[in-house]
Amino acid sequence: VQLYRTLSTAGITAATFAHESAASPLKIMSLNIDTVERRGPRTFGPAFLEKLGGPLDKIRNAMKSIGVLGSVTLSLVEADKRRPRRVDLHAVIGSVLATFEPFFQQREVAVDTALADSQPFLRTSTAAVESIITNLVSNSLIAFEEATSGSRRIRVSTLISAETAELRIADNGPGIAGISKSDIWLAGYTTRLHGTGLGLTIVHDAVADMAGKVEVVSPGSLGGAEFIINLPILGS
Ligand SMILES: Nc1ncnc2c1ncn2[C@@H]1O[C@H](COP(=O)(O)OP(=O)(O)O)[C@@H](O)[C@H]1O
Ligand SMILES: [Mg+2]
Repeated sequence: VQLYRTLSTAGITAATFAHESAASPLKIMSLNIDTVERRGPRTFGPAFLEKLGGPLDKIRNAMKSIGVLGSVTLSLVEADKRRPRRVDLHAVIGSVLATFEPFFQQREVAVDTALADSQPFLRTSTAAVESIITNLVSNSLIAFEEATSGSRRIRVSTLISAETAELRIADNGPGIAGISKSDIWLAGYTTRLHGTGLGLTIVHDAVADMAGKVEVVSPGSLGGAEFIINLPILGS
C-alpha cells in the first residue's frame, strides 16, 4: 500500500509537472528557438543554419518528446476515463499505440498490429484498458534496452470470438529472464534497478476486474515475451 501511495504521489506530481511544462517552459523554448532560427542567418549568414540547423532540429525533437510525455501523463489522469462504460478495445489500442509512436520511432521499434476485423466492446473503463496496454508496451520498450540484436519488433494482435477477445502483445526482446514467470505478477518483483514491480500487478488486477485472464509465454511467437489476455466482451 505504501508503494501505491508513493507512486500515486509521484503520478500527481508528474501530472502537475506535465501541465506546467506544456504551459510555460516549453512555449518559451519554442518561441526562442524560432527567434534564433530567424535572427541567426540574418546576423551570421547562411553558414549559421548549415552549422547549427542540425542541433536546432535535435532540440526541437527533444522538446516534442517532452511534450508527448506530458500529454500522455495528463491523458492518463483524465477523470472521465475512469468511468465504467462500453469501451471499444480496438480504439483504445489505436490511441495508445499512436501516443507511443514518437518513442517507437526514436528507438527504432517496428510495431505491427493485426487486429481482428470487428469492433469488440468491453464493460470497463478506458483507463483500465489503457493501463494494460501502456504497461505491456512500456515493458517491451524497456526490455529492448537490455540485449538487442537486430531489429526491434512488437506485435499487437486480437482474435475475437462470440464471447471473448484475445489480445496478444509480443516482442522480440530478451524474454522473461532472472525472475520466475509466476513472480512477475507480484507487486515489488522486478529485475530492473529502477523498477517498481507494479506494472504487471496492475495489468493482472485490471484484467481480473474485467473477469479476464492473462498469461505469459516466453519465448513467445517473436522470440521474446508474449502476453496473452482473454477478456469477456459485450459484443462486437
Ligand atoms: N516484455 C518483457 N520482456 C522481458 N521481461 C519482462 C517483460 N515484461 C516484464 N518483464 C519482467 O517482469 C518484471 C516485472 O515487470 P513489471 O511488473 O512491469 O515491473 P517493472 O517494469 O517495474 O520491473 C520485469 O522486471 C521484467 O523482469
Ligand atoms: Mg513495468
